[in-house]
Amino acid sequence: MSSYKKPDFWSLKAQKDGYPARSVYKLQEIDKKFAFFVSSCGGKSGRGGTCGLRALDLGAAPGSWSLYILRRYGGSRGPENRAGLPAEGAENPAETAIDPAADPARGPEGFLKGPLKGGFFLAAADLLPLPRRHDRGLFDRGDFFFVQGDFTADPVREELVRRGPYTAVVSDAAPATTGNRSVDTPRSLALVEEALGCAEQCLVPGGNLAVKVFQGDTAALLARLRESFTTVKSFKPAACRSGSFETYYIGLGKRGYTHS
Ligand SMILES: C[S@@+](CC[C@H](N)C(=O)[O-])C[C@H]1O[C@@H](n2cnc3c(N)ncnc32)[C@H](O)[C@@H]1O
Repeated sequence: MSSYKKPDFWSLKAQKDGYPARSVYKLQEIDKKFAFFVSSCGGKSGRGGTCGLRALDLGAAPGSWSLYILRRYGGSRGPENRAGLPAEGAENPAETAIDPAADPARGPEGFLKGPLKGGFFLAAADLLPLPRRHDRGLFDRGDFFFVQGDFTADPVREELVRRGPYTAVVSDAAPATTGNRSVDTPRSLALVEEALGCAEQCLVPGGNLAVKVFQGDTAALLARLRESFTTVKSFKPAACRSGSFETYYIGLGKRGYTHS
């Protein structure tokens, strides 16, 4: 029997918009509904890194969320802007070649010469590598960092924390599912707790968290979120597959201090 599934509306839209996964529209909806990234850094809306966004993407592969953040908030450091490609949302993007070496702000390897000083930065982690089919050089930017590894493991977590603090943490991480809810839900909850621990450690006060949760007994998790954030919401974007158990918990305005 074939396992082929007919692409749905969101998958076809992702193909058309140049994203590797339909999940990008979940983040887009979260961002629109909660002004998620802009409110995380209390900055002005718009492109160009004006709000000093520093984001961490946990469970990032195949890279749609990272690409959304880079395209929407990465500003003119992006090679796509220098090369004259249309910004996020523009139609018929040109297939222009990208030449990081042409940027005077970068050294020979394409890395930014100077420190970012509160400018845009995105770090991402996944067990899997990030495919390069859709990124048009964005993953080579000096203000993007990717580590392939388990973000719950000390060396990876320490590396991510060292590159923080962040104004926004997003986690779409999901364990390999078995289809058995009594197995998948506790596994997912353990991963969510790790993501929350990471956010508690490396978010700035006032920062925001969005984390994927498979519904289940989340009372303790919600209590912990309410201790850490001034506002906590549960939100199921329209792009979630019908019948899926997943939802997203949104923590807005981290309380207190960032651990060193
Ligand atoms: C649904 S996918 C994420 C999709 C991504 N947000 C996008 O839009 O392209 C979930 C990812 O979580 C990753 N993952 C699960 N557990 C992880 C862990 N402990 N550390 C790092 N990544 C993990 C998986 O490898 C998988 O790529």
